[in-house]
Amino acid sequence: MQHSFPDPESQINASRAAIRLSGVTKEFRGSAEAAVADLSLDIEEGSIVALLGPSGCGKTTTLRMINRLIEPTSGTIEINGTNVADIPAQELRRGIGYVIQQVGLFPHRSIASNIGTVPKMLGWNKKRIAERVEELTSLVGLDHDLLSRYPDELSGGQQQRVGVARALAADPPVLLMDEPFGAVDPIVRARLQDQLLELQSEVRKTIVLVTHDVDEALRVADQIALLNVGGVLEQLAAPDDLMRTPANDFVRTFVGEDRWLRRLHLNLVSSLPHHTGPILPIAATFGEAREVLAAEGVSWLGITEDDVFLGWVQASALDAVEAAGGSLADLERQLPAAQVEPTSTLRSAMELIMVSNTSAAVINEGGKFGGVVTLEGIRRGLAGDTS
Ligand SMILES: Nc1ncnc2c1ncn2[C@@H]1O[C@H](COP(=O)(O)OP(=O)(O)O)[C@@H](O)[C@H]1O
Ligand SMILES: [Mg+2]
Repeated sequence: MQHSFPDPESQINASRAAIRLSGVTKEFRGSAEAAVADLSLDIEEGSIVALLGPSGCGKTTTLRMINRLIEPTSGTIEINGTNVADIPAQELRRGIGYVIQQVGLFPHRSIASNIGTVPKMLGWNKKRIAERVEELTSLVGLDHDLLSRYPDELSGGQQQRVGVARALAADPPVLLMDEPFGAVDPIVRARLQDQLLELQSEVRKTIVLVTHDVDEALRVADQIALLNVGGVLEQLAAPDDLMRTPANDFVRTFVGEDRWLRRLHLNLVSSLPHHTGPILPIAATFGEAREVLAAEGVSWLGITEDDVFLGWVQASALDAVEAAGGSLADLERQLPAAQVEPTSTLRSAMELIMVSNTSAAVINEGGKFGGVVTLEGIRRGLAGDTS
Protein backbone atom coordinates (compact mmCIF):
# COMPACT_ATOMS: atom_id res chain seq x y z
CA MET A 1 0.00 0.00 0.00
CA GLN A 2 1.18 3.47 -0.89
CA HIS A 3 0.70 5.35 2.33
CA SER A 4 3.50 7.84 2.69
CA PHE A 5 2.79 11.54 2.80
CA PRO A 6 3.68 12.69 -0.70
CA ASP A 7 5.44 16.00 -0.09
CA PRO A 8 9.14 15.43 0.64
CA GLU A 9 9.52 19.00 1.87
CA SER A 10 6.87 18.63 4.52
CA GLN A 11 8.18 19.11 8.03
CA ILE A 12 5.53 16.86 9.46
CA ASN A 13 6.22 14.17 6.92
CA ALA A 14 5.98 11.19 9.19
CA SER A 15 3.51 8.40 9.53
CA ARG A 16 3.19 9.41 13.17
CA ALA A 17 3.11 12.74 14.89
CA ALA A 18 2.95 13.91 18.46
CA ILE A 19 1.35 17.25 19.26
CA ARG A 20 2.37 19.53 22.11
CA LEU A 21 0.52 22.65 23.25
CA SER A 22 2.53 24.84 25.63
CA GLY A 23 0.87 27.73 27.46
CA VAL A 24 -1.50 28.41 24.56
CA THR A 25 -3.77 31.41 25.01
CA LYS A 26 -6.28 32.88 22.58
CA GLU A 27 -7.95 36.21 23.19
CA PHE A 28 -10.30 37.30 20.45
CA ARG A 29 -10.27 40.98 19.75
CA GLY A 30 -13.09 42.74 21.53
CA SER A 31 -13.82 40.06 24.10
CA ALA A 32 -12.93 40.52 27.73
CA GLU A 33 -12.39 36.85 28.49
CA ALA A 34 -9.86 34.55 26.88
CA ALA A 35 -11.36 31.78 24.70
CA VAL A 36 -8.42 29.55 25.62
CA ALA A 37 -6.24 30.30 28.65
CA ASP A 38 -2.71 29.03 29.16
CA LEU A 39 -3.49 25.57 27.81
CA SER A 40 -0.73 22.96 27.96
CA LEU A 41 -1.39 19.52 26.56
CA ASP A 42 0.69 16.64 25.26
CA ILE A 43 -0.92 14.42 22.67
CA GLU A 44 0.83 11.13 22.13
CA GLU A 45 1.39 10.00 18.58
CA GLY A 46 -1.08 7.45 17.33
CA SER A 47 -3.61 8.23 20.07
CA ILE A 48 -7.10 9.70 20.07
CA VAL A 49 -7.50 12.67 22.40
CA ALA A 50 -10.98 14.08 22.95
CA LEU A 51 -11.35 17.76 23.72
CA LEU A 52 -14.50 17.56 25.81
CA GLY A 53 -16.45 20.34 27.47
CA PRO A 54 -19.54 22.55 27.43
CA SER A 55 -20.40 24.80 24.52
CA GLY A 56 -18.12 27.82 24.25
CA CYS A 57 -15.25 26.37 26.30
CA GLY A 58 -12.75 26.82 23.47
CA LYS A 59 -12.67 23.35 21.90
CA THR A 60 -13.03 24.50 18.29
CA THR A 61 -10.65 27.40 18.87
CA THR A 62 -8.02 24.98 20.22
CA LEU A 63 -8.47 22.63 17.27
CA ARG A 64 -8.21 25.44 14.73
CA MET A 65 -5.01 26.72 16.29
CA ILE A 66 -3.40 23.34 15.56
CA ASN A 67 -3.88 23.75 11.80
CA ARG A 68 -3.44 27.52 12.02
CA LEU A 69 -6.92 28.50 10.91
CA ILE A 70 -6.60 30.59 14.08
CA GLU A 71 -3.30 31.97 15.41
CA PRO A 72 -2.72 31.85 19.19
CA THR A 73 -2.25 35.12 21.07
CA SER A 74 0.61 33.51 22.97
CA GLY A 75 2.12 30.09 23.59
CA THR A 76 3.34 27.51 21.11
CA ILE A 77 2.01 24.45 19.34
CA GLU A 78 4.49 21.87 18.12
CA ILE A 79 4.02 18.86 15.89
CA ASN A 80 6.89 16.39 16.19
CA GLY A 81 8.96 19.10 17.82
CA THR A 82 8.44 21.71 15.08
CA ASN A 83 6.57 24.89 15.96
CA VAL A 84 3.59 25.02 13.60
CA ALA A 85 4.13 28.78 13.29
CA ASP A 86 7.35 27.95 11.40
CA ILE A 87 5.58 25.78 8.83
CA PRO A 88 3.84 27.55 5.91
CA ALA A 89 0.11 27.20 6.61
CA GLN A 90 -0.71 25.44 3.33
CA GLU A 91 2.03 22.90 3.78
CA LEU A 92 1.01 22.37 7.40
CA ARG A 93 -2.60 21.69 6.41
CA ARG A 94 -1.56 19.12 3.82
CA GLY A 95 -0.23 17.04 6.71
CA ILE A 96 -3.39 17.49 8.77
CA GLY A 97 -6.75 16.00 7.83
CA TYR A 98 -9.71 18.10 9.00
CA VAL A 99 -13.23 16.80 9.46
CA ILE A 100 -16.11 19.03 10.53
CA GLN A 101 -19.74 18.40 11.40
CA GLN A 102 -21.10 20.13 8.31
CA VAL A 103 -18.82 17.87 6.22
CA GLY A 104 -18.50 20.54 3.54
CA LEU A 105 -18.53 18.24 0.51
CA PHE A 106 -18.50 19.89 -2.92
CA PRO A 107 -22.13 19.47 -4.06
CA HIS A 108 -21.48 19.45 -7.81
CA ARG A 109 -18.68 16.91 -7.71
CA SER A 110 -19.07 13.14 -7.54
CA ILE A 111 -18.15 11.28 -4.36
CA ALA A 112 -15.01 9.94 -6.07
CA SER A 113 -13.98 13.45 -7.03
CA ASN A 114 -14.66 14.71 -3.50
CA ILE A 115 -12.49 12.01 -1.96
CA GLY A 116 -9.72 12.65 -4.49
CA THR A 117 -9.60 16.41 -3.89
CA VAL A 118 -6.25 16.61 -2.13
CA PRO A 119 -4.39 14.01 -4.27
CA LYS A 120 -5.56 15.90 -7.36
CA MET A 121 -4.32 19.16 -5.86
CA LEU A 122 -0.98 17.44 -5.21
CA GLY A 123 -0.75 16.50 -8.89
CA TRP A 124 -1.06 12.74 -8.59
CA ASN A 125 -1.82 10.98 -11.88
CA LYS A 126 -5.34 9.69 -12.59
CA LYS A 127 -4.52 6.05 -12.01
CA ARG A 128 -2.95 6.71 -8.62
CA ILE A 129 -5.86 8.90 -7.54
CA ALA A 130 -8.39 6.27 -8.64
CA GLU A 131 -6.53 3.57 -6.72
CA ARG A 132 -6.34 5.70 -3.61
CA VAL A 133 -10.05 6.57 -3.82
CA GLU A 134 -10.91 2.87 -4.08
CA GLU A 135 -8.69 2.08 -1.11
CA LEU A 136 -10.23 4.82 1.04
CA THR A 137 -13.75 3.80 0.08
CA SER A 138 -13.10 0.35 1.52
CA LEU A 139 -11.27 1.78 4.52
CA VAL A 140 -14.22 3.90 5.65
CA GLY A 141 -16.74 1.19 4.82
CA LEU A 142 -18.50 2.92 1.93
CA ASP A 143 -20.22 1.04 -0.88
CA HIS A 144 -18.19 1.42 -4.11
CA ASP A 145 -21.41 2.01 -6.07
CA LEU A 146 -21.68 5.38 -4.35
CA LEU A 147 -18.51 6.75 -5.98
CA SER A 148 -20.32 8.05 -9.06
CA ARG A 149 -23.14 9.64 -7.01
CA TYR A 150 -23.40 13.20 -5.71
CA PRO A 151 -23.35 14.31 -2.04
CA ASP A 152 -27.07 15.10 -1.75
CA GLU A 153 -27.90 11.54 -2.84
CA LEU A 154 -26.17 10.18 0.29
CA SER A 155 -27.41 9.86 3.88
CA GLY A 156 -25.85 11.96 6.63
CA GLY A 157 -23.82 9.01 7.87
CA GLN A 158 -22.53 8.23 4.38
CA GLN A 159 -21.58 11.87 3.82
CA GLN A 160 -19.68 11.83 7.08
CA ARG A 161 -17.71 8.79 5.90
CA VAL A 162 -16.89 10.59 2.66
CA GLY A 163 -15.65 13.51 4.75
CA VAL A 164 -13.35 11.17 6.68
CA ALA A 165 -12.13 9.50 3.48
CA ARG A 166 -11.38 12.89 1.97
CA ALA A 167 -9.48 13.99 5.07
CA LEU A 168 -7.38 10.82 4.95
CA ALA A 169 -6.70 10.95 1.20
CA ALA A 170 -3.08 12.08 1.30
CA ASP A 171 -2.44 9.99 4.39
CA PRO A 172 -1.78 12.87 6.80
CA PRO A 173 -0.29 11.83 10.15
CA VAL A 174 -2.71 14.08 12.04
CA LEU A 175 -6.50 14.11 11.91
CA LEU A 176 -8.55 16.90 13.51
CA MET A 177 -12.25 16.18 13.95
CA ASP A 178 -14.70 18.83 15.14
CA GLU A 179 -17.97 17.31 16.40
CA PRO A 180 -17.75 14.93 13.43
CA PHE A 181 -20.80 12.89 14.35
CA GLY A 182 -22.91 15.72 15.73
CA ALA A 183 -25.35 15.87 12.82
CA VAL A 184 -26.34 12.21 12.64
CA ASP A 185 -28.86 10.29 14.75
CA PRO A 186 -27.68 8.33 17.82
CA ILE A 187 -27.70 4.89 16.16
CA VAL A 188 -25.70 6.03 13.15
CA ARG A 189 -23.44 8.00 15.49
CA ALA A 190 -22.63 4.90 17.52
CA ARG A 191 -21.85 3.00 14.32
CA LEU A 192 -19.57 5.79 13.07
CA GLN A 193 -17.79 5.85 16.43
CA ASP A 194 -17.15 2.10 16.29
CA GLN A 195 -15.99 2.49 12.75
CA LEU A 196 -13.58 5.26 13.70
CA LEU A 197 -12.01 2.88 16.22
CA GLU A 198 -11.71 0.16 13.60
CA LEU A 199 -10.19 2.63 11.18
CA GLN A 200 -7.77 3.88 13.81
CA SER A 201 -6.57 0.34 14.53
CA GLU A 202 -5.48 0.23 10.88
CA VAL A 203 -4.14 3.73 10.26
CA ARG A 204 -2.91 4.84 13.74
CA LYS A 205 -3.27 8.57 13.18
CA THR A 206 -2.80 11.15 15.89
CA ILE A 207 -6.41 12.25 16.28
CA VAL A 208 -7.78 15.25 18.13
CA LEU A 209 -11.54 14.99 18.37
CA VAL A 210 -13.80 17.76 19.63
CA THR A 211 -17.05 16.75 21.30
CA HIS A 212 -19.48 17.95 23.96
CA ASP A 213 -20.84 14.42 24.34
CA VAL A 214 -19.40 12.57 27.37
CA ASP A 215 -20.43 9.18 26.02
CA GLU A 216 -18.70 9.84 22.71
CA ALA A 217 -15.48 10.83 24.46
CA LEU A 218 -15.64 7.81 26.75
CA ARG A 219 -16.23 5.54 23.80
CA VAL A 220 -13.53 6.64 21.40
CA ALA A 221 -10.79 8.50 23.27
CA ASP A 222 -7.53 7.18 24.69
CA GLN A 223 -7.27 10.39 26.71
CA ILE A 224 -9.91 12.98 27.52
CA ALA A 225 -9.01 16.63 28.00
CA LEU A 226 -11.97 18.10 29.87
CA LEU A 227 -12.15 21.86 29.36
CA ASN A 228 -14.12 24.48 31.24
CA VAL A 229 -15.37 27.83 29.95
CA GLY A 230 -12.43 30.07 29.16
CA GLY A 231 -10.44 27.14 27.78
CA VAL A 232 -9.27 25.99 31.19
CA LEU A 233 -8.09 22.39 31.36
CA GLU A 234 -9.82 20.79 34.36
CA GLN A 235 -8.47 17.26 33.89
CA LEU A 236 -6.55 15.18 31.39
CA ALA A 237 -7.06 11.47 31.94
CA ALA A 238 -7.91 8.16 30.35
CA PRO A 239 -11.70 7.67 30.20
CA ASP A 240 -11.96 5.25 33.08
CA ASP A 241 -9.63 7.32 35.28
CA LEU A 242 -11.70 10.44 34.61
CA MET A 243 -14.71 8.66 36.05
CA ARG A 244 -12.93 6.77 38.80
CA THR A 245 -11.00 9.74 40.12
CA PRO A 246 -12.59 13.03 39.00
CA ALA A 247 -10.19 15.86 39.87
CA ASN A 248 -12.85 18.27 41.15
CA ASP A 249 -16.56 19.09 41.31
CA PHE A 250 -16.67 20.39 37.75
CA VAL A 251 -15.41 17.05 36.42
CA ARG A 252 -17.70 15.11 38.74
CA THR A 253 -20.73 17.06 37.60
CA PHE A 254 -19.80 16.97 33.94
CA VAL A 255 -19.33 13.21 33.74
CA GLY A 256 -22.50 12.77 35.81
CA GLU A 257 -23.58 11.04 38.96
CA ASP A 258 -24.12 7.82 37.02
CA ARG A 259 -20.44 7.43 36.26
CA TRP A 260 -20.28 4.03 37.98
CA LEU A 261 -22.91 2.77 35.58
CA ARG A 262 -20.98 4.21 32.66
CA ARG A 263 -17.91 2.38 33.85
CA LEU A 264 -19.81 -0.91 33.70
CA HIS A 265 -20.42 -0.23 30.01
CA LEU A 266 -16.87 0.84 29.39
CA ASN A 267 -14.85 -1.83 31.17
CA LEU A 268 -14.47 -5.36 29.88
CA VAL A 269 -14.34 -8.67 31.69
CA SER A 270 -10.68 -8.91 30.63
CA SER A 271 -9.91 -5.85 32.80
CA LEU A 272 -10.77 -7.71 36.01
CA PRO A 273 -8.02 -9.39 38.02
CA HIS A 274 -8.03 -13.07 37.09
CA HIS A 275 -10.15 -15.11 39.47
CA THR A 276 -10.01 -18.85 38.91
CA GLY A 277 -12.72 -19.63 41.44
CA PRO A 278 -13.72 -23.06 42.74
CA ILE A 279 -12.61 -25.00 39.70
CA LEU A 280 -11.10 -28.48 39.45
CA PRO A 281 -10.05 -30.80 36.64
CA ILE A 282 -12.33 -33.78 36.19
CA ALA A 283 -9.54 -36.18 37.28
CA ALA A 284 -9.25 -34.57 40.76
CA THR A 285 -10.11 -36.53 43.91
CA PHE A 286 -13.04 -35.98 46.29
CA GLY A 287 -10.51 -34.86 48.91
CA GLU A 288 -9.23 -32.10 46.60
CA ALA A 289 -12.81 -31.09 45.82
CA ARG A 290 -13.62 -30.66 49.52
CA GLU A 291 -10.47 -28.59 50.06
CA VAL A 292 -11.41 -26.21 47.26
CA LEU A 293 -15.01 -25.94 48.50
CA ALA A 294 -13.81 -25.07 52.00
CA ALA A 295 -11.24 -22.57 50.75
CA GLU A 296 -13.74 -20.72 48.53
CA GLY A 297 -16.69 -21.03 50.91
CA VAL A 298 -19.14 -22.04 48.17
CA SER A 299 -21.59 -24.91 47.59
CA TRP A 300 -20.71 -25.68 43.97
CA LEU A 301 -17.66 -26.55 41.88
CA GLY A 302 -16.72 -25.97 38.28
CA ILE A 303 -15.31 -28.98 36.43
CA THR A 304 -12.85 -28.71 33.54
CA GLU A 305 -11.24 -31.17 31.18
CA ASP A 306 -8.21 -30.11 29.13
CA ASP A 307 -8.99 -26.53 30.21
CA VAL A 308 -12.46 -26.73 28.66
CA PHE A 309 -15.28 -25.88 31.04
CA LEU A 310 -17.71 -28.81 31.42
CA GLY A 311 -20.18 -27.39 33.93
CA TRP A 312 -21.04 -26.88 37.60
CA VAL A 313 -21.63 -29.63 40.18
CA GLN A 314 -23.35 -29.33 43.57
CA ALA A 315 -21.24 -29.90 46.71
CA SER A 316 -24.20 -31.66 48.33
CA ALA A 317 -23.99 -34.47 45.74
CA LEU A 318 -20.37 -35.36 46.56
CA ASP A 319 -20.94 -37.75 49.49
CA ALA A 320 -23.44 -40.01 47.75
CA VAL A 321 -21.39 -40.38 44.57
CA GLU A 322 -18.23 -41.07 46.59
CA ALA A 323 -20.04 -43.69 48.72
CA ALA A 324 -21.21 -45.40 45.54
CA GLY A 325 -17.58 -45.68 44.40
CA GLY A 326 -17.86 -43.04 41.64
CA SER A 327 -15.57 -40.18 40.65
CA LEU A 328 -16.07 -36.45 39.97
CA ALA A 329 -16.97 -37.44 36.41
CA ASP A 330 -20.09 -39.20 37.73
CA LEU A 331 -21.58 -36.07 39.32
CA GLU A 332 -24.50 -34.49 37.54
CA ARG A 333 -23.27 -31.37 35.73
CA GLN A 334 -25.09 -28.18 34.87
CA LEU A 335 -23.74 -26.07 32.08
CA PRO A 336 -23.07 -22.50 33.12
CA ALA A 337 -26.20 -20.41 32.81
CA ALA A 338 -23.98 -17.36 32.86
CA GLN A 339 -21.17 -17.48 30.35
CA VAL A 340 -19.15 -14.45 29.26
CA GLU A 341 -16.21 -13.74 27.01
CA PRO A 342 -13.15 -11.65 27.89
CA THR A 343 -14.53 -8.97 25.54
CA SER A 344 -17.95 -8.85 27.25
CA THR A 345 -18.66 -5.62 29.10
CA LEU A 346 -18.96 -5.70 32.89
CA ARG A 347 -22.51 -4.45 32.33
CA SER A 348 -23.51 -7.58 30.41
CA ALA A 349 -21.62 -9.85 32.82
CA MET A 350 -23.45 -8.27 35.73
CA GLU A 351 -26.82 -8.70 34.07
CA LEU A 352 -26.13 -12.39 33.38
CA ILE A 353 -25.03 -13.00 36.93
CA MET A 354 -28.15 -11.31 38.34
CA VAL A 355 -30.54 -13.15 36.03
CA SER A 356 -28.96 -16.59 36.44
CA ASN A 357 -28.12 -16.15 40.14
CA THR A 358 -24.74 -17.88 39.62
CA SER A 359 -21.23 -16.72 38.94
CA ALA A 360 -20.34 -16.29 35.29
CA ALA A 361 -17.78 -18.56 33.67
CA VAL A 362 -15.33 -16.76 31.40
CA ILE A 363 -14.92 -18.73 28.19
CA ASN A 364 -11.96 -17.70 26.04
CA GLU A 365 -11.62 -18.07 22.33
CA GLY A 366 -11.38 -21.76 21.53
CA GLY A 367 -13.76 -22.63 24.39
CA LYS A 368 -11.07 -22.62 27.10
CA PHE A 369 -12.07 -21.76 30.64
CA GLY A 370 -10.70 -18.37 31.67
CA GLY A 371 -11.88 -17.93 35.25
CA VAL A 372 -14.98 -16.86 37.12
CA VAL A 373 -16.69 -13.49 37.43
CA THR A 374 -18.72 -12.65 40.53
CA LEU A 375 -20.59 -9.49 41.54
CA GLU A 376 -18.04 -8.97 44.29
CA GLY A 377 -15.24 -9.34 41.71
CA ILE A 378 -16.86 -6.66 39.52
CA ARG A 379 -17.24 -4.32 42.49
CA ARG A 380 -13.63 -4.82 43.46
CA GLY A 381 -12.42 -4.43 39.88
CA LEU A 382 -14.17 -1.08 39.51
CA ALA A 383 -12.90 0.08 42.88
CA GLY A 384 -9.36 -0.75 41.78
CA ASP A 385 -9.19 -3.17 44.71
CA THR A 386 -6.96 -6.03 43.61
CA SER A 387 -6.52 -7.68 47.01
N1 LIG B 1 -13.94 34.52 15.72
C1 LIG B 1 -14.30 34.78 16.98
N2 LIG B 1 -14.37 36.06 17.44
C2 LIG B 1 -14.70 36.31 18.72
N3 LIG B 1 -15.00 35.37 19.62
C3 LIG B 1 -14.94 34.09 19.23
C4 LIG B 1 -14.60 33.71 17.89
N4 LIG B 1 -14.63 32.36 17.79
C5 LIG B 1 -14.99 31.92 19.01
N5 LIG B 1 -15.18 32.93 19.88
C6 LIG B 1 -15.53 32.81 21.31
O1 LIG B 1 -14.56 31.99 21.93
C7 LIG B 1 -15.17 31.13 22.87
C8 LIG B 1 -14.83 29.69 22.51
O2 LIG B 1 -15.48 29.34 21.30
P1 LIG B 1 -15.31 27.91 20.61
O3 LIG B 1 -13.88 27.57 20.55
O4 LIG B 1 -16.06 27.93 19.34
O5 LIG B 1 -16.05 26.98 21.68
P2 LIG B 1 -16.54 25.46 21.57
O6 LIG B 1 -16.05 24.88 20.30
O7 LIG B 1 -15.98 24.80 22.79
O8 LIG B 1 -18.03 25.52 21.65
C9 LIG B 1 -16.64 31.44 22.84
O9 LIG B 1 -16.90 32.34 23.88
C10 LIG B 1 -16.84 32.09 21.50
O10 LIG B 1 -17.90 32.99 21.53
MG1 LIG C 1 -17.10 24.09 18.65
